[in-house]
Amino acid sequence: MAAGIDDISVYIPKLYVDASDFAEARGLDPQKLVRGLGISKMAIVDSNQDPACLAANACLQIMQKNKLSPEDIGRLYVATESSLDESKAMNSYVIGMLEQVYGSGSFQHCGGIECKFACVSGSYALYDNSNWIRAGESEDKHALVVVSDIAKYDLGSSGEMTQGGGAIAMLLNDKPRLLEFDPKVTSTSIKNEYDFYRPFGKETPVVHGQYSNLLYLIQVKNALVDYTKKAIKTGLITLADDESMLDHMDYINMHLPYSNMGKKALAYLVRHEWRSTPRWAKIIEQVGMNEPVPKDPRGTIESILADSEFMTKDHEFTKRFANTNDYQEVYENKVASSLIASKMIGNLYTASLYLGFRSCLEFEFQKGIDLDSKRFGFASYGSGSSAMVFSGVIQPEYEEIVKDMNLEAEIGERKKLSLEEYEQLHENKLKPEQSLLNAKKEFVLEYVEGLSSESRGERRYSFAD
Ligand code: HMG
Repeated sequence: MAAGIDDISVYIPKLYVDASDFAEARGLDPQKLVRGLGISKMAIVDSNQDPACLAANACLQIMQKNKLSPEDIGRLYVATESSLDESKAMNSYVIGMLEQVYGSGSFQHCGGIECKFACVSGSYALYDNSNWIRAGESEDKHALVVVSDIAKYDLGSSGEMTQGGGAIAMLLNDKPRLLEFDPKVTSTSIKNEYDFYRPFGKETPVVHGQYSNLLYLIQVKNALVDYTKKAIKTGLITLADDESMLDHMDYINMHLPYSNMGKKALAYLVRHEWRSTPRWAKIIEQVGMNEPVPKDPRGTIESILADSEFMTKDHEFTKRFANTNDYQEVYENKVASSLIASKMIGNLYTASLYLGFRSCLEFEFQKGIDLDSKRFGFASYGSGSSAMVFSGVIQPEYEEIVKDMNLEAEIGERKKLSLEEYEQLHENKLKPEQSLLNAKKEFVLEYVEGLSSESRGERRYSFAD
């Protein structure tokens, strides 16, 4: 049985920090953010928003747009790493909010859990719910998979320039109008790592930034190698002598902690894929230098990062490689459109990969490209760490979904924060009732029961009319 994404909705908070204002305040060259990382704006949540209301707003949008009632939804999963409770799952808050609109008890039949594995958990949730559909368990109902997060780092840390927030809801069923997943090729790589993690009670993560960048690349490459073996074994593709797996993907969407990570990851994957093909000799000629090798090629990530001679040469090689016509062609045709939304919004952790997918659909369609039957590869990464590579094919009815996509209009008018306002929000100095915006037609957080209450930690939400 088929399974895939029928429709996709996005909810982005309307407050943002401008990258240049931010850089100036932190004594950084704005070009480091704008050109170096590919960040122009970071979405910031208001004081009356949390990841559960972002998720509920994305769900309400997709249900209203498709005129769905709660009986049409069989499962509602929320994948997040911005958990609100050690025990109570985020989908329960979301159902509570949706029932304010659809009626008390209207989602009683709807199973689901909160999923956690840093940024990759949304991809595991999609895979598990697709298998629920493939197994014939869905009884003609849809699954809703919501990815929702607030990417927040310590003030003054190097991660602070890669923040963001938002939610994406994906409607899954057995006759998807948008994208059908390729069966039996989903591949994963996993290793116990401490590149980025958030110990209990800490609001912001502990981050080893350069380590996390390299680990992401290695884990995604490992998953892609496994995906390629499965794609050949299942007959999804046959590889000719001078072909690589990426030649069989029309588009490649990657986890985007910041927009330029897509470029970095593409260069790494393409180098890996092309190295063993006959075309590599021509590429090396264009690059004008041999690919550098670390002093200890079997060393650890730490030893490779500490090998400064190798790192400098490798940086130079990557820069030259990224300027070759062959790489530029792959980048422009398969990746560039997926990076546009990330520049405008920032890191959404679990939702970043799917914001990239959404961005690619909108901006490729606007170019007049017919997306029917195009294969999308997805490279998902979550710190801690695991990668997942999978793929799907755009369906003939896709235009129905994509033709009205307009991210700027969907976000609506945004308010630029002063650095003072941003820092107040970051340090949780404003209460929900002191929100900077007047929310309309969306769920907001009213209050959280305080420490002295018997119901401490209970969260109350309302629908702002
Ligand atoms: P950094 O180390 O301060 O930055 O922070 P950098 O020195 O690497 O510079 C970044 C880029 O800007 C470089 O380009 C510089 O050359 C360039 P690249 O070498 O990459 O091509 N640059 C400039 N360009 C133009 N003009 C200038 C200039 N100066 C420098 N003046 C880092 C970067 C990403 C490490 C930091 O922001 C960080 O720690 N972020 C958080 C962690 C993160 O995002 N890691 C990404 C991989 S792990 C992941 O994706 C998982 C995650 O989403 C969490 C999860 O799974 O839940 C984070």
